[in-house]
Amino acid sequence: MARQILYKRCDMAKAPATRRRAAVPQALAVSLLRQVEQGRGFSNRVLAEGLERNLELEAGERGIVTALVYGVLRHRSRLDVHIDACARDGAKLGAVPRMLLRVGAFELLELGREPANAIDHAIAAASGWDPSGRLGKLAHAVLERLAHEATARDEVLAAAAPLDVLERRWSIPRWLAGRWLKQLGAERALARAQALARVPSVDVRVDLGRIDAQTARTRLQAERPGARIELVPEQPQALRVHGGGDLFYGALHDEGLISVQGLAAQQPARVLAPQPGEQVLDACAGMGVKTLQLAELMTRRGTLVAADRDATKLVEHARLRERGRLDVASLALHVLTTDLAGDASELDALGRFDAVLLDVPCTGLGNLARHPEIRWLRRFEDLAAAAAVQSQLIARLRARLRAGGRMVVAVCSPEPEEGARHVAALLAQGGLSLLHERTWTPEDDGTEGFYVACVQDRGAPAPAVAGS
Ligand SMILES: C[S@@+](CC[C@H](N)C(=O)[O-])C[C@H]1O[C@@H](n2cnc3c(N)ncnc32)[C@H](O)[C@@H]1O
Repeated sequence: MARQILYKRCDMAKAPATRRRAAVPQALAVSLLRQVEQGRGFSNRVLAEGLERNLELEAGERGIVTALVYGVLRHRSRLDVHIDACARDGAKLGAVPRMLLRVGAFELLELGREPANAIDHAIAAASGWDPSGRLGKLAHAVLERLAHEATARDEVLAAAAPLDVLERRWSIPRWLAGRWLKQLGAERALARAQALARVPSVDVRVDLGRIDAQTARTRLQAERPGARIELVPEQPQALRVHGGGDLFYGALHDEGLISVQGLAAQQPARVLAPQPGEQVLDACAGMGVKTLQLAELMTRRGTLVAADRDATKLVEHARLRERGRLDVASLALHVLTTDLAGDASELDALGRFDAVLLDVPCTGLGNLARHPEIRWLRRFEDLAAAAAVQSQLIARLRARLRAGGRMVVAVCSPEPEEGARHVAALLAQGGLSLLHERTWTPEDDGTEGFYVACVQDRGAPAPAVAGS
């Protein structure tokens, strides 16, 4: 078996100050990527905590760390193809050297850094793990060759069979690439893979009851002078922000005037179109991004129940209540910890619902751009496991609709087993009409992959549903 050299991070505080400074973003990125690889958390959480622990980093350096962490996860296969071709024995590379090389290769191939700069960064970062200089020498040799041969190797990669192109050039796991080729054809599958490789915008939802989108944009632009902020046609509540940094911080967010939420994820509540005075259930409410949106659409009037089985997520609702100005006499807001796939008898006292938003737990396969590690975590079997849970939840929640009530089924995955097939099966049982159905895709809509459908109980005449 190949012998791997294990590197332990040495004390960067003992390194000369100039070297330390130059290496910080790359060294931190390697360290955070190792944490993600070891399963110590999702990349967004690991990154946020890593940046929090390194407050001395300047804004530009924080941006570099963020680009490196997400970028390496999005392009891992391509980086490894290049590294394995240039290292003397790729199989013998230990986890730290490989990650260091991935970061260096990403700087070269995706950020277009000058080879001398990328190599310098890698050597300086390497010294944090191996002061003897051996790791730095390895990084130098591999990255120099990689830079020299990159164009020719990329041409070979691009000319391969479609399955290999998706897997090796665009970092889509082979099992998923095979499904896409069958479902979508080669051209569309490639367009999807390419769309998911791009750095996504950060989308925000504006609380239109309290501020108009243009004013929110102007205020946000003043908060983030370097950002490019776009209004979205036919989506009056949405802004798309490029290069604006972390939008969870800032006055607009703190005042609840904007909420960070992907454009496609903004659709389920819009399609449900809850009315003031209705009794509405946010099933699978999680940390409440859609709970607040439902309250906004109800103009904070009526009864709103946020339910989830995970009490640790529901804890966030206390902050949400304050940020979203939800403590008003016109809104009865209940937050319940309950297993909705079981009896959920805590809900019985409330009777049936006019509108139910069911944001089912899923594989997250639509979210490969914003949560790139999902590519490397999911397996084919996960689809069937998620589908089983989803169909149980859908059946239970359908039973809680009043006559004429509406239910939205939403899922952050474009895979048919997790959305369209459930809704087809539900409709086949009878008693429901389909008011709206749409799959949002990265290649057509520039959003996360998302399925959303709205059904209505046939017990009463159908009211018009906005957005359908
Ligand atoms: C896609 S997330 C919901 C995200 C949330 N709606 C939002 O907009 O932030 C799915 C949620 O389903 C919850 N969940 C999974 N199984 C459940 C069950 N049997 N009963 C209740 N909630 C469940 C998970 O805890 C998770 O918060």
